[in-house]
Amino acid sequence: MNAILRADSVDLFYGTHQAVSGVDFSLRRGEVAAIMGTSGSGKSSLLYCLAGVLPPTRGAVTFDGLKLPSMSDDELSALRRERFGFVFQYGELLPELTVQENAALPLRLAGQRKAPAHAAAGEVLGRLGMTELLQRRTSQLSGGQSQRVAVARALVHRPDVVFADEPTGALDSVNASAVLEEFLRLARDQGTAVVMVTHDASVAEHADSRYTMTDGILK
Ligand SMILES: Nc1ncnc2c1ncn2[C@@H]1O[C@H](COP(=O)(O)OP(=O)(O)OP(=O)(O)O)[C@@H](O)[C@H]1O
Ligand SMILES: [Mg+2]
Repeated sequence: MNAILRADSVDLFYGTHQAVSGVDFSLRRGEVAAIMGTSGSGKSSLLYCLAGVLPPTRGAVTFDGLKLPSMSDDELSALRRERFGFVFQYGELLPELTVQENAALPLRLAGQRKAPAHAAAGEVLGRLGMTELLQRRTSQLSGGQSQRVAVARALVHRPDVVFADEPTGALDSVNASAVLEEFLRLARDQGTAVVMVTHDASVAEHADSRYTMTDGILK
């Protein structure tokens, strides 16, 4: 099986508390996976391990043949910046930058010039219904508007894998569909793999594979 991302027997402890327990997981190019589960079951923690944000206490995460835990901090940051996109559960936009500047950031960090980076960001933002707000500072957005900017920023550089932690949690059904449609489009057209945590069964039903997390165990 040609997995782009896989986890083998991953455990994550915070001190003595085990948040992720013996997780095996694999994801193909173009696959959209949904993870559901109750609050505190370890979904965000697993996403952090899969994305190389937190090193697992035990076990291995492999992306495209590279073992993440054995990479240096610099190599890992470059990998995350260039080949991953992450929608964090709690936003994490830069408040002093505009909507368009926030969404264009991954391209600017990769050295792309301002005009094409802003054009690409404007396109994704447009498909997420944000065209009117491109010049607004993100400190002046609603929760759902911020969430759509975070989604645009995670997708703008067409990453190999998108990790999305409740990317539609603050959205009404129309905007949630727009976000889902962007994920599915990228998966279909670019072969992007998506792992999303969601509480929304109507979002999860469009995924290729569905998992449930219970007390750190993924099934
Ligand atoms: N930094 C931390 N230090 C200690 N314990 C933590 C830390 N972060 C999370 N936990 C604990 O680990 C467990 C899993 O947390 P996690 O955030 O992964 O859950 P979750 O499934 O994402 O929940 P939610 O649906 O509420 O976002 C919880 O019991 C939580 O209290
Ligand atoms: Mg969480």
